[in-house]
Amino acid sequence: MKKILVTGGAGFIGSNFARMLMKRKGRRKIVILDKLTYAGNLDNLADLSGMDGFEFVKGDICNGRLLDQLLPGTDIIYNFAAETHVDRSILEAGSFVKTDVVGTYTLLQMALKHKVRRFVQISTDEVYGSIEKGKFRESDPMKPNSPYSASKAGADMLVRSFHRTYGLPVIITRSSNNFGPFQHPEKFIPLFTTNALEGKPMPLYGDGKNVRDWIYVEDNCRAIDLVGRKGKVGEVYNIGAGDEKENIFIAKKIVSLSGADRGLLTLVSDRPGHDRRYAVNTRKIRSLGWKKKVPFNEGMRMTVDWYRDNEEWWRKTKEGSFKKYYRKMYKDRIEGGKVRK
Ligand code: NAD
Ligand code: DAU
Repeated sequence: MKKILVTGGAGFIGSNFARMLMKRKGRRKIVILDKLTYAGNLDNLADLSGMDGFEFVKGDICNGRLLDQLLPGTDIIYNFAAETHVDRSILEAGSFVKTDVVGTYTLLQMALKHKVRRFVQISTDEVYGSIEKGKFRESDPMKPNSPYSASKAGADMLVRSFHRTYGLPVIITRSSNNFGPFQHPEKFIPLFTTNALEGKPMPLYGDGKNVRDWIYVEDNCRAIDLVGRKGKVGEVYNIGAGDEKENIFIAKKIVSLSGADRGLLTLVSDRPGHDRRYAVNTRKIRSLGWKKKVPFNEGMRMTVDWYRDNEEWWRKTKEGSFKKYYRKMYKDRIEGGKVRK
């Protein structure tokens, strides 16, 4: 029976990916390894626990001894585990270096020892840095600008080196911004959606005109799965839906889908080092036969509906330590901000 390890599977994309694998017919064992940081949430996997072939292990990818016990018999590793929020990496970068760089290194070492047949590193388009015009190709150099993206770029370098030096069968995916169910409310779309539902200010950084290329999470999961099965070892694959939008456009869409008051949109001081625009060329992943299935407007409608219908989920997530983080990050900014007309 095929054994698949999904690290970071209690987070946003990892839990959607695990759900997609579990829905598929065929005998396989899926092991989730997750440290359950503030971003990990067992509620994201509630419908999968107890299913045949599903196992959850609480643990850290930096723990080599645990990996040594877990990896025998593993066919494929999908490494989603990471510290992922750019704003938090600006406040404190150490945990990013630890998990994203040292954790990936530890996992690579153990994958090599246990002769894992494929190691899929889930990276990000942010490693390329910002681009004014055109789109990044897989062969472009990495020029990361935040401690988060620098840590992910460090991981990509290590993954590449384990292939070139030791022949570990690795593949790297670099996707654009995901949105959809189970995304932590610290991130842009869920934060704005839940604030809109609560009637709270929606804090837009800078002039609100930074551009991100949005992909519905299930489309990214299908692409990652395809790369894991059909991608070429040693290669990098960009993943993106080509739906480039200014933040202000997304914010207004959330206002209209949630029925919130437009006066909640508030321009606040910018994120330091804020990348202006991300855009990736996706010819390579499309040449494997992938294309997006969920149109942007439909994905946004489903996402806002999901947060409306799952208030208990996000209210719990917004309690506790999140409140402290939110105050630190936004209180002064919102009070000094101006309402966007
Ligand atoms: P997330 O923050 O929602 O989830 C990360 C998960 O990793 C959490 O469950 C957390 O508990 C776990 N984790 C953190 N440190 C760990 C450790 N040391 N050991 C084991 N588990 C640990 O993140 P996400 O948005 O689902 O992103 C998943 C992956 O995809 C990340 O590698 C991220 O860099 C990449 N990515 C995300 C996006 C996006 O738009 N969200 C886009 C491109 C790439
Ligand atoms: O591009 C892929 C990356 O997308 C992933 O690698 C990261 O893990 C993921 O967090 C995401 O990074 P971003 O920085 O692009 O996402 P975030 O949701 O933090 O912000 C999206 C845009 O919205 C960005 O231009 C900043 C802006 N923003 C964000 C927040 C949280 C605001 O204007 N206000 C906010 O409160």
